[in-house]
Amino acid sequence: MSAKPNAYRAAILHSLDDPAEVGVEASYQYFEDGLLVVEDGKISAIGHASELLPTLPTDVNVVHYQDALITPGFIDTHIHFPQTGMIGSYGEQLLDWLNTYTFPCERQFADKAHAEQVAKRFIKELLRNGTTTALVFGSVHPESVDALFEEAQRLDLRMIAGKVMMDRNAPDYLTDTAESSYLQSKALIERWHGKGRLHYAVTPRFAPTSTPEQLALAGQLLGEYPDVYLHTHLSENLKEIEWVKALFPERKGYLDVYDHFQLLGQRSVFAHGVHLCDDECKRLAETGSAVAFCPTSNLFLGSGLFNLPQAEQHKVKVGLGTDVGAGTSFSLLNTLNEAYKVMQLQGARLNPFKSLYLATLGGARALCLEERIGSLSPGLDADFVVLDYNATPLLSYRLQQSKSIEETLFVLMTLGDDRTVRETFAAGRSVHQR
Ligand code: GUN
Ligand code: ZN
Repeated sequence: MSAKPNAYRAAILHSLDDPAEVGVEASYQYFEDGLLVVEDGKISAIGHASELLPTLPTDVNVVHYQDALITPGFIDTHIHFPQTGMIGSYGEQLLDWLNTYTFPCERQFADKAHAEQVAKRFIKELLRNGTTTALVFGSVHPESVDALFEEAQRLDLRMIAGKVMMDRNAPDYLTDTAESSYLQSKALIERWHGKGRLHYAVTPRFAPTSTPEQLALAGQLLGEYPDVYLHTHLSENLKEIEWVKALFPERKGYLDVYDHFQLLGQRSVFAHGVHLCDDECKRLAETGSAVAFCPTSNLFLGSGLFNLPQAEQHKVKVGLGTDVGAGTSFSLLNTLNEAYKVMQLQGARLNPFKSLYLATLGGARALCLEERIGSLSPGLDADFVVLDYNATPLLSYRLQQSKSIEETLFVLMTLGDDRTVRETFAAGRSVHQR
């Protein structure tokens, strides 16, 4: 990349804070004719084009997008890269779905060449959908994580991933041991964590597939490497919850299993949390742990409806997750469309600016990365997307009737998908053009 700054002119919108905390109006910044200035992979200025343009050196390259909205790159706080090829698998709920479809599919990632090929496809799909950062499950095979990080490093993406730890209640071909999972995770942390924009997540699949010994070693890794992440599943499905109670009868409940092994904290992300009680929400908030809200997955597997107002009441950090392959889309716009309906079914409203927050700054906060990504404030990584108001004839026609940025945003989230993403930038470089 040249050291010369680049500037991008279009409508620009980003979140400044959680609407649930500061109210809707104070939660965002919008420039109808805005300018985003990028230097050395970082944002150096944002503002009204009329004010910023005269301040720029004359040789700055200004790219002017018509009928377009620049927002921060989307942040997917829960997704499985080895499940790319099994998205849309029919007929089962969580536990049968895992046995019938997921485990056989993940088995293929023992082959590094297969993992490399899917990693390329997976990352391309993220970028096509405007997702610039994701918290990613690998398979049990360390090679799967190498393949993913190699591709992310090639494109200089900010990515978080980890090898699954799973030493019981899964087929022999897909299990490790407490000791091998510890050693392999440690080697991956040493190899990848902090390299460029890559971060490691210690990734026990979920309580039922780990022995107490393995969960204890996961906790030990977090103690040894305090700035790595913890990524797992929590309270997704009622049968799963009953199973956890049977496997860990001495614990108060599902979250308490993870708590006992010291897996809660600022960099811990728990996918789903569909069936949490108030005490569990309280404990998540106390420890700074986050939940990934995965509406397309929760609907597809019939898991239940995530109670976002309950999480807000308790001030639990919440990000948005696609949970591909139980989730049915890589698109966070599409995911927000379903999130809105999940709230409708509970008699609640999802404000469009709250949706924007969930897909960007809320995700960054869930990942403790708000100093780097999630908004377009100067100093942050230049990870952003250009959304096209004319992506489809229907979107174009519908947006001609829009009277406000709030309405435009809601329509983008209701009708939008990968076609809406005209261009994706990571660290100031264009990494996808539609
Ligand atoms: N719980 C344990 N493993 C999985 C998985 O792969 N997907 C989902 N949705 N839930 C899980
Ligand atoms: Zn998942």
